[in-house]
Amino acid sequence: MKARILSGVQPTGQLHIGNYLGALKNWAEMQREYESIFCIVDLHAITVYQNPEELRGKILETAALFIAAGIDPEQSSIVVQSSVPGHAELAWLLTCVTPLGWLYRMTQFKARSEKQETIGDGILQYPVLMAADILIYQASIVPVGEDQSQHLELARDIAQRFNSMYGETFVMPATHLPTVGARIMGLDDPTQKMSKSTVGSGHAIALLDDPGIIQKKIARATTDSKPAIDLNDLSPGIANLLTIAQACDSSFTPQAAAGMRYGDFKKRVAEIIIARLEPIRQRYREITADPLYIDRVLEQGREHVLPLAEATICKTKRAMGLYV
Ligand code: TYM
Repeated sequence: MKARILSGVQPTGQLHIGNYLGALKNWAEMQREYESIFCIVDLHAITVYQNPEELRGKILETAALFIAAGIDPEQSSIVVQSSVPGHAELAWLLTCVTPLGWLYRMTQFKARSEKQETIGDGILQYPVLMAADILIYQASIVPVGEDQSQHLELARDIAQRFNSMYGETFVMPATHLPTVGARIMGLDDPTQKMSKSTVGSGHAIALLDDPGIIQKKIARATTDSKPAIDLNDLSPGIANLLTIAQACDSSFTPQAAAGMRYGDFKKRVAEIIIARLEPIRQRYREITADPLYIDRVLEQGREHVLPLAEATICKTKRAMGLYV
C-alpha cells in the first residue's frame, strides 16, 4: 500500500509563488508516489472574519489553482475541509487531550494576540484543527513550507499524547520541506515571509499575475545598493530572488548569476518566473471555463475520503470509551 500524504491551503487572499514553491509544486511532484489528499481548509479561514460570498468564490478558485498547478484530481483527492464533518469532530476529541499551555506557546497565536485586543478562540484552537486534518487520514507525510513546522510538531505531540493515554490510534506524521523554497520572503521586505495576508502590490507574486506585472514586481523588488551580484556577500533581497529562480528552474544555479548586474539579473529572474507560471495561468483559464467541473472534482474528493475519515472517528471514539 502507498503511504499517504496530506496537506492544506487556506482559501484566503491570493495564492502566491511562496505557496507554490513551498507547497503546491511539491504536492504535484509527490502525488505519483503517495496516496494524496489535498484540502482547502475553509474552517481554518473562518478563524478570522471572511465575507461569506468572497469565501465561497475563494474555495472554488483555490481548487482550480490546485489543478492548474499540477494536482491531478484522478490521482489525488481534492477536498473542502468543511465538507467532511469528521475534521471538526476529531478536532474536539483532540482538544480534550491538549494542554492549554501548548497552544499559548504557538508563535502564530502569540503574534496575533499581541496585535489584537480581542482574539477569537478559533485562533487558539487553530493548530488542534490542523492536527485533526492530518491525523484523521492517518497521513504519514505532510509536505508544507517551513512556517508550518511548529504546527506539525504540535500535531505529533498531540498524537503521541493521545496514543499514550488511550492506546495506539494515530500514525505519527513527518514534516516534509522542499530543499529549495521552503521559505520565500516578501519582495518589498525580504526579512519578512511572503504572506497572503500582507496587502501591498509589491509584496508577493500571485499565481495568476500576468507577465507584465511580474516583470514590474521583480524590477521593484528590494535589494541593496551594490551594482552586481557577489555570491560571498548576498543581501536578503538578492538571496531571495536567487532562491525563487532556483526553485522555479532547477537548471538555474546561483553560480550562473555571479557578477551579473542587478538590472540584468532581475530581468532573468522575471523570465524564469514567467516561464513557470504562464502554463498555470493558461490551465486555470481552461479549467474555469466549465463552471461545474470544480464542483464535480470536489464531490469526487469528498466521496473518496469520507470512509477514511469515518474509520478514524470510530476508532478514536471507541478508544476513548464513547458510544459508537
Ligand atoms: P497557508 O494557507 O498559509 O499556506 C499554504 C502552504 O504554503 C506554504 N507557504 C509558504 N512556503 C514557502 N514560502 C512562503 N512564504 C510560504 N507561505 C506559505 C505553507 O507552509 C503551506 O504549506 N495552516 C496551514 C493550512 C493547513 C494545513 C493543514 C497544512 C491546515 N491544515 C494540514 C498542512 C496540513 C496554512 O495556513 O497554510
